[in-house]
Amino acid sequence: MDTKITPIWTRVCEVADIPRLGSRVLERASGNIALFRTALDDVFALLDRCPHKGGALSQGIVHGESVTCPLHAWNIDLTSGEARAPDVGCAHRFAVRVEDGAVFLCLD
Ligand code: FES
Repeated sequence: MDTKITPIWTRVCEVADIPRLGSRVLERASGNIALFRTALDDVFALLDRCPHKGGALSQGIVHGESVTCPLHAWNIDLTSGEARAPDVGCAHRFAVRVEDGAVFLCLD
């Protein structure tokens, strides 16, 4: 019996709906998701909650493939959700797929 789980992708917006070097918030009862767009139009998604003290990462500054939390300036790697050294912690990351300008998230 095949027990592989097929990911379910949910279309959430267009890449153009996310400001370049900025973010857009996807509101959910179980915790908002921050969608980030880099200067190169790569899109990343993290739980909108800093692993330090819960700051809204969506209000941070995007640079390269990082976001700087607005509260105490931790730098979070957008590709992994990990805080960059010397800080330690991880924001939950959601898998993102971009297809024909549309952004899909794997919300499992
Ligand atoms: S809450 Fe993000 S750095 Fe402190």
